[in-house]
Amino acid sequence: MNGGFQIKGNYLDLLAYFGIGGAHPGGLDLTKTVLDAENILSSDHVLDLGCGTGQTSAYLARQYNCHVTAIDNHPIMLEKSNHRFQLEQLPVRVINGNAEKLAFQDDSFDYVFSESVVIFTDITKTLNELSRVLRKDGKLILIEMIAEQTLTEELISDVCELYGIKKILNEDEWKISLQDAGFNQIEILKQQSAELINTEIQDLNQSKDIRLEFYDLWDQHHQLIHQYRKLLSYRVFRCLRS
Ligand SMILES: C[S@@+](CC[C@H](N)C(=O)[O-])C[C@H]1O[C@@H](n2cnc3c(N)ncnc32)[C@H](O)[C@@H]1O
Repeated sequence: MNGGFQIKGNYLDLLAYFGIGGAHPGGLDLTKTVLDAENILSSDHVLDLGCGTGQTSAYLARQYNCHVTAIDNHPIMLEKSNHRFQLEQLPVRVINGNAEKLAFQDDSFDYVFSESVVIFTDITKTLNELSRVLRKDGKLILIEMIAEQTLTEELISDVCELYGIKKILNEDEWKISLQDAGFNQIEILKQQSAELINTEIQDLNQSKDIRLEFYDLWDQHHQLIHQYRKLLSYRVFRCLRS
């Protein structure tokens, strides 16, 4: 890396080992605000794509009593989300699967929520899959990091290396990707702040023997989002499957 960041380890492993619940900008408060503005019915089938430790799936099942499917491809995330659902006795269906190739039939879901996940995947493949598994007029809500301005090659490289991602889209590029995948009525849900640094972590389920390099990586993550707070932020996208 050239920007003063020395990356060791993998950011998604860090989140899994620390067991950070609500590992997306805005945290659980934003999740609740977004979900509570929807009219989620107990008969609805809802997919939490990249569920992490299961905080949002648990809230969905508890609050709306709907049919929740939680999917992730990280074994520790799956273990911790299963643990959460068992402790809270919530009937969430947990699936070990890849967002880019979902093992669901077409038109399976009324809603898909995905909080800080798609950016870690092949964006085109994942959005195409989400379009396929949502029913017509089904709703997709994404919380994703965006570039507020044109970024230097050096910053792009630092951010991609730190998070293990391939590219950083701006708001318009996200909208075009959503349209190309078959979504319409794309809205940006307004937030008081779109800064990445506002999230407070209140939900932790730490593994034993956390590698020291994860503490360094966590510091680097905070340093980066603070240093580039005017350039990197997030949006909540809401759209319908055409
Ligand atoms: C930043 S975390 C967010 C977790 C959760 N949505 C939350 O807000 O707490 C990203 C999650 O996406 C999962 N993920 C990344 N790539 C994936 C893929 N191709 N298929 C399924 N899950 C994936 C990771 O394992 C991780 O749990």
